[in-house]
Amino acid sequence: MIFKKGELFCGPGGLTLGAKMAQVEKDGVVFKVEHAWANDYDEATCNTFRHNICPENPESVICGDVRKLDVASLPKIDAFAFGFPCNDYSIVGESKGLEGDYGPLYTYGIKVLNHHRPKWFIAENVGGLESANEGQAFIKILQEMEKAGYNITPHLYKFQEYGVPQSRHRIIIVGIRKDFGWTFKVPKAPFKDRDSWKNARQALECPPIEKDAFNNEFTMHQKKVIDMLNWIPPGGNAWSEEIPEHLRLNVKGAKLSNIYKRLHPKTPAYTVTGSGGGGTHMYHYKEPRALTNRERARLQTFPDDFEFLGGKESVRRQIGMAVPPDGAKVIVEAILKSFAGIEYETEAAKWEELLNDMLITGKSQKKKKSSPSRQVITQQREKEDIK
Ligand SMILES: C[S@@+](CC[C@H](N)C(=O)[O-])C[C@H]1O[C@@H](n2cnc3c(N)ncnc32)[C@H](O)[C@@H]1O
Repeated sequence: MIFKKGELFCGPGGLTLGAKMAQVEKDGVVFKVEHAWANDYDEATCNTFRHNICPENPESVICGDVRKLDVASLPKIDAFAFGFPCNDYSIVGESKGLEGDYGPLYTYGIKVLNHHRPKWFIAENVGGLESANEGQAFIKILQEMEKAGYNITPHLYKFQEYGVPQSRHRIIIVGIRKDFGWTFKVPKAPFKDRDSWKNARQALECPPIEKDAFNNEFTMHQKKVIDMLNWIPPGGNAWSEEIPEHLRLNVKGAKLSNIYKRLHPKTPAYTVTGSGGGGTHMYHYKEPRALTNRERARLQTFPDDFEFLGGKESVRRQIGMAVPPDGAKVIVEAILKSFAGIEYETEAAKWEELLNDMLITGKSQKKKKSSPSRQVITQQREKEDIK
């Protein structure tokens, strides 16, 4: 059974690659996902997607603003994905939620559901979605998905528990069209025990990255930055006590914990993000330098033959925004197993017990805290998932 998939906000294709890698078989019948069409408004991002996912059919990636997309004219699909932009759901800074420029973009995903009626969908966003607009944005989005005719399963996936060498927490909502009569169950995370987590060293060194690998350019640093990095221990940041006075940063405001933060070789990396200025490029545990894009791609589980197109900063953004393909694969595989009638180990979805009440009453179970102080922001930054 082949599920033709359409995708909005397709990014470089992290989710699609995971979906392509997922394949199951039952009684000689193969269940798999095939790309049908995709949309994103960033030119370099679309080129990366075309180059790696559908080089034989580049026109199937429509490059343009989703607000101008003629949804009705898109080819028929069985499956649909949309990792709607999360800029307005971040807990860091002003969280505009549905009132921001990006917040309402999810409605185009709902439009596709209503028009094309795919058998299933997968939607993705940051953990901050839960508390945006005092919890109302999350519930409104869930209600609209349900109203479009889907049994939904929202869950907060911790990707380090799914074999990704990175601490990355994302809300993923799987919807199954109601006429199938069942609800998706979250696949049990195979690596619950932190001792079993894949660490940054394994990701970057096993196997070593070829010197001439794609997207593996090094950053030229000023001498002062190199000297400072040399004093920062693995896992430490720009505020490490070890740094001598003359090499310290002269910062008056909040001391964000991810500034010049070096990876620790024995733990998963902190969250790979796509934006941020000086000091936020993620730093190697052994060498006094920023990671290359290929190293960031390794932490996101992209294979080395996945070539990102575009300038260095654009590639950094593309990598940081993607769903780790290995994580997406586990989820899509569970969807395919469900359709094939193959059993798999499951775990409780985060909002399982509250979901019905949330959908019926439209009320959040979780009150939004008053605007976080700068200090709290600093502490949360490490966990933060700005894309
Ligand atoms: C979170 S990323 C999606 C990543 C993707 N799911 C993956 O796994 O690779 C969101 C994408 O939405 C795109 N985007 C943002 N606003 C858009 C708009 N108005 N129209 C089309 N695409 C948009 C961005 O360029 C970005 O690539």
